[in-house]
Amino acid sequence: MAKSKNKTVYTCQNCGAQRPRWEGKCSDCGAWNSFVEELQLEEPKTRGWSTGSVEKTSTSPGKPVSLDQSLEAIKLDRFDTGYEELNRVLGGGLARGSFVLLGGSPGIGKSTLLLQMAGGLAGDKRKVLYISGEESVSQTGSRAHRLGIRSPLIEVGSESNLHNVMEMARHKKPDVLVVDSIQTMYLSDLQAAPGSVSQVRECAGHLMGLAKQDGIAVILIGHVTKDGSIAGPKVLEHMVDCVLSFDGDTSYDFRLLRTLKNRFGAAHELGVFQMNSKGLEEVLNPSELFLEERGDQLIGSAVFASMEGTRPLLCEVQALTLSTNMAMPRRTSLGIDVNRLHLLTAVLDRHLDVRLAHNDIFINVVGGLKLVEPAADLAVAAAILSTEGRRDLDAKTVFFGEIGLTGEVRGVSFVESRIKEADKLGFQHFVIPFSNKRHLADMKIPADKKISYIKNVRDLSKII
Ligand code: TYD
Ligand code: MG
Repeated sequence: MAKSKNKTVYTCQNCGAQRPRWEGKCSDCGAWNSFVEELQLEEPKTRGWSTGSVEKTSTSPGKPVSLDQSLEAIKLDRFDTGYEELNRVLGGGLARGSFVLLGGSPGIGKSTLLLQMAGGLAGDKRKVLYISGEESVSQTGSRAHRLGIRSPLIEVGSESNLHNVMEMARHKKPDVLVVDSIQTMYLSDLQAAPGSVSQVRECAGHLMGLAKQDGIAVILIGHVTKDGSIAGPKVLEHMVDCVLSFDGDTSYDFRLLRTLKNRFGAAHELGVFQMNSKGLEEVLNPSELFLEERGDQLIGSAVFASMEGTRPLLCEVQALTLSTNMAMPRRTSLGIDVNRLHLLTAVLDRHLDVRLAHNDIFINVVGGLKLVEPAADLAVAAAILSTEGRRDLDAKTVFFGEIGLTGEVRGVSFVESRIKEADKLGFQHFVIPFSNKRHLADMKIPADKKISYIKNVRDLSKII
């Protein structure tokens, strides 16, 4: 009997490792149950990912450039996306020939964002080709219509065969190509299903070639998995120049656009948008939005001046403590890491005259924001102390500072930006780490403002 030529391999959907047999746990990346059977007709022609054809290059691809003065001539050409928030997150506009990945959960507004961006780019006289593998031309068209986007410079298409997409892009020569979901694209010479590791990797490789050799900025939309990471191989994130994530609490109408990686600008930038009936609207002054509904009942509510990338952002941290008879009191936290909360509780319990060990503690960061900076410690501590002692917190006070295990308050970065933002919104009193005093030596503090420098959490209880 003739042996079947078709070989099956098992590919880890997390890291792309291949095995002849199924394995429960990937020995490369440690992911469980991540192997999927894929049909392999022949060995791939290239190792790693291919960048597609190389014929159409204007400069020879492999030629090294000397890092002398002549290099200044190679300047990044940036496109204005029409949205200040989006420009900042991209590091000052969309760079020509850049390769960008936008991830986000379903229905969060990825397609809407990129369609509106296409409208903005057309305003900057840039040609955009928007290819959707998920929606028909009439669907995309009617959405664009509803969003008020009309321009001869924007073309929309519905296609999921990547060869056709590449063909179209090379023929139309747009400045920007949007591929609405890399998971729906496929190369017909690969046997694996669309969305599988080999398809995603190869398709992305071809599109990278398009970006780097033809100078077309390519933006990919990527689905995210249950745990919030971008579906498909990690290698996708390594390939692209810029990874953006679009998220937001579905119970709120604002959406947060974050930079997770950027080869052309700062990472950890944040852009804030609001979804309404006319699509996404940018929020240029998010601190106001996040403090908008702050009540007059200020027991257990502290304002924290956070930094999101290069932008300061004020937000409200709320705390509630309730005494309990349970042996294990509850620690519930929305918006800060619960381990951080355990640590803070322990420090406050030890160094201050509070008995938190017999209290349930609830923390909430208003607006669905997630604070990762340790600088939030002081605001969380202030909110807890306030609710625990039923003490009013002054509505015009802002807190920031990291708390260490010995109760010391540690300095944080970007002190000036934080204070300026709080000052802009009319805050009067700033409670900040003592070690940050030297960073403010050159700053002019208005006479009606007060800064309290604190060295230890014990000082905090004196202030509030
Ligand atoms: P969409 O961009 O299709 O999400 P994704 O591509 O990330 O899956 O956004 C869909 C959601 O956005 C949908 O639930 C409705 C909402 N939406 C509005 O609220 N207003 C609008 O003007 C548009 C176009 C969408
Ligand atoms: Mg979509």
